[in-house]
Amino acid sequence: MSRTNFKYLVLSSVFNILCAQNIKDGNFTPIVMWHGMGDSCCFSFSLGAVKEKLEEALPGIHVVSLRIGDSEVTDVENGYFLHPDKQIKMACDLVNSDPLLADGFNALGFSQGAQFLRALVQRCKTVKIKNLISLGGQHQGVYGLPNCGSLSNSICDYIRRLLNHAAYFGWVQKALVQATYWHDPLHEQDYKNHSTFLSDINNELTINQLYIERLQTLDNLVLVKFENDTVVQPAETEWFGFYKPGQSNKIETLQESTLYTEDRLGLQKLDKNSKLQFLAVPGNHLQFDWPWFKENIITPYLKN
Ligand SMILES: *[C@@H]1O[C@H](CO)[C@@H](O)[C@H](O)[C@H]1NC(C)=O
Ligand SMILES: *[C@@H]1O[C@H](CO)[C@@H](O)[C@H](O)[C@H]1NC(C)=O
Repeated sequence: MSRTNFKYLVLSSVFNILCAQNIKDGNFTPIVMWHGMGDSCCFSFSLGAVKEKLEEALPGIHVVSLRIGDSEVTDVENGYFLHPDKQIKMACDLVNSDPLLADGFNALGFSQGAQFLRALVQRCKTVKIKNLISLGGQHQGVYGLPNCGSLSNSICDYIRRLLNHAAYFGWVQKALVQATYWHDPLHEQDYKNHSTFLSDINNELTINQLYIERLQTLDNLVLVKFENDTVVQPAETEWFGFYKPGQSNKIETLQESTLYTEDRLGLQKLDKNSKLQFLAVPGNHLQFDWPWFKENIITPYLKN
């Protein structure tokens, strides 16, 4: 072999390796994100920045941050005032209309966006979600709203009063998103009977077999709990734990609850199949740093 030929061979294999790299670059599973209360799809200081960082860490990735409504302002408002049933229907349509998501995607839910994405898995039969990452989601609801996000203090106080005194009134359930996952352990049966969202997606009154089957289609349900969360009460809801019914002090873990022991939602089955992951991170609500995120979320769950 002549010297020139040899050089050419070396160069062309380097070229091939680079090309293979490029092909790999375009091959990451797409990601769909859903923001939390008071936030929007795209604020540059919030999910806009997360999107950029994901695109940097996973070159060529398709990242969709769901905007519920036709502007960012409506998107924020809808996080307080548009019933989750309608939001999930809209999200289902958005995801179905994107051909790049047709082969499946990973999902990243922030705070209430996490329980909405879980509901999307359970209800939107056409979507194929591989890993669902719940960052500070309230899967057993909340009993307390110490922080109302971007709302003014007077509106926030009004909302708090409504939740404390009238969360299960029909008109409040219709008007206020946070009422639909308000879980009053002192009035457990009221919650089960009258919560128009959480009670349904958690199979509290009846068992929806479809919900159980749909959850089993996940590769992983990853529940991230913020150990020093002062925004979500109680923080254990981020791992499906909650106050034991009848009082608001002692916590019962998912594994101790009838949701798990009777396997009403298929979570025990997910767990037995090693598809239910519990991660704890020190810090307040949604306060994780990027190196932690890369090591614990991107590397194990988003590089598929
Ligand atoms: C809940 O619903 C059941 C069945 O309709 C009813 O018997 C019960 O009284 C209700 N309880 C509350 C607290 O709403
Ligand atoms: C955060 O929570 C963890 C676990 O409960 C606890 O060990 C730690 O002391 C807390 N840190 C702060 C700063 O409160």
